[in-house]
Amino acid sequence: MPQFVRGADIQEIPPGTARVLRIRGREIALFNADGTFYAVKNSCPHRGFSLDRGAVQDGVVTCPGHGWQFDLRTGDSVDHPPAGIRCYRVEIRQGWAWVEVP
Ligand code: FES
Repeated sequence: MPQFVRGADIQEIPPGTARVLRIRGREIALFNADGTFYAVKNSCPHRGFSLDRGAVQDGVVTCPGHGWQFDLRTGDSVDHPPAGIRCYRVEIRQGWAWVEVP
């Protein structure tokens, strides 16, 4: 059953950066995209590079491996459909990001 798990203090994640969370055996990248937080599986579907070090602009992260781009709102690849990344719901509660995981 999906459940929200406390992830990180959002003040520790400046805009345009991400924090890696390890929750229930999953590695999740929690991004701050201009003040909105998104959580995605921290693995690019191309060759598995970690996405947390990718640049973020207008809600889109660019994989640091070979430049594939993913919309953090939907997980869809912008430039290599139908590739995509798994997204997790995020709620902000009293300054903390909570992430819903199965
Ligand atoms: S591993 Fe992400 S684009 Fe190649």
